[in-house]
Amino acid sequence: MAARQQNLPHADRLKPGMNDNLHQLRCFGCGARISGAEAQPDFRCVVCGDLFEVEYPGWSQRQGNDRPNAGALKWLWRERRCSSEWLDQSGVWRFRELLPILDNFGNAVTLREGNTPLYPLIRAAKALGIDQLFAKHQGMNPTGSFKDTGMTAALSVAKERGFEWVACASTGNTSAAMAAYAARAGLRSLVLIPDGKIAWGKLSQAMDYGAVTCQLKTDFDGCLDLLTQIVRESPIYLLNSVNPYRLEGQKTPAFEIAEAFDWSVPDHLIVPGGNLGNSSALGKGFRELYELGLVARMPRISVIQAEGANPLVRSMTQNHGASLEPVEAHTRATAIRIGNPASWRKAARIIQDTDGWCLDVSEAEIAIAKTELGSEGLGCEPASAVTLAGLKKLRAQGHIASGDSVVLVLTGHTLKDADYTIDFHRGTLLKDEEKVGLETEIDGLRRNAVVVDATPAAVLATLKGSAG
Ligand code: F0G
Repeated sequence: MAARQQNLPHADRLKPGMNDNLHQLRCFGCGARISGAEAQPDFRCVVCGDLFEVEYPGWSQRQGNDRPNAGALKWLWRERRCSSEWLDQSGVWRFRELLPILDNFGNAVTLREGNTPLYPLIRAAKALGIDQLFAKHQGMNPTGSFKDTGMTAALSVAKERGFEWVACASTGNTSAAMAAYAARAGLRSLVLIPDGKIAWGKLSQAMDYGAVTCQLKTDFDGCLDLLTQIVRESPIYLLNSVNPYRLEGQKTPAFEIAEAFDWSVPDHLIVPGGNLGNSSALGKGFRELYELGLVARMPRISVIQAEGANPLVRSMTQNHGASLEPVEAHTRATAIRIGNPASWRKAARIIQDTDGWCLDVSEAEIAIAKTELGSEGLGCEPASAVTLAGLKKLRAQGHIASGDSVVLVLTGHTLKDADYTIDFHRGTLLKDEEKVGLETEIDGLRRNAVVVDATPAAVLATLKGSAG
């Protein structure tokens, strides 16, 4: 690292924000507007300390015939799915008319992210009495999580602006995505992760893609605080979701969902909540489609957290999202083990604007939902399964009608955290007190591997034993 530090760029070598004529940054708190080049290294507003959103002034100025031609855009985006151009093959850059954040799209760093499947969930729909239930599986991205859609956008900005180093604090998936995209772009990457609190699959990816990985004796929130201090002192580009360009990429699954629904939208979108960048980004995506006249309405957007890491749920129930008290986070869904979420204001706004809900689910409910998704052939990581667990609660509370269409956003691939899955099926994941009232359901879902003699009779006897 010491020798490499000489490669850190000097501030005067960094190119100014070139594409400012197309986009600007607007503070979510006080509304201050700045150019992309004026953003602080920690992406906080110097006036009020809040986060920024990317804004495209040209869109609101365009009236009548000057508005984008919705039909032409829809046709163009679909055509690109058959294109052999590398930029068109990205499910993010396919929609580049709605994210003009680069001066030159030739600078885009892509691994063919996006274009993820929207699977019908037949069994869960039947069990819940819902006609139309789908899973948008963002775990089917190149590094196995939704982070790739945001990383292709923000890392491309880093590359275009001449940075040599990029960095993030992470519960694992952001670091895996950042390390991969940095490696593709030939940039160096620094990862700060909470020691012992991320899944091995994710740590192994950061190592494989060549990141400098520091395991810190603190939690995710501590890692992000430390990194914020570091980027203020060194010209290292911050790639956490406080970076508004990340959210520009992460809004594109909203476009894919609308496209899959033939440019109507589902009634409900259910998203896991950790640092709360993703729910904010998807909300921004649907809002832009609505404001540009590409869809006629917005879906309700609900955010689900784990009971032990539920600062937004508390904020929404105690003061309707006016303020947020950080919590010390505990959950086995390590991806969302976050007590002080950076984008909470944006997420609270989108829940309120769309009449969505915010609720939490227990460790046992997460484990059950994850196994149920697995039994439909759609494995996912624990953090993703909060969506199905949350849907069950929303349906039981009468918030979702049988005729409603619902999309669950599955954020990560099942192989990210194989230990969790194996522990569940072995019966070692949950403590007795966590299972109270759910023991029979849990036992019915467990499929532990068994050791048997290497004879046909022994294997066939095992089949009989597992009948039903
Ligand atoms: N699901 C998965 C699989 C995640 O990795 C994360 C966040 C979330 C949900 C929550 O998304 O933070 O936008 O609300 N993972 C981050 C990381 C924090 O470092 O990989 P969010």
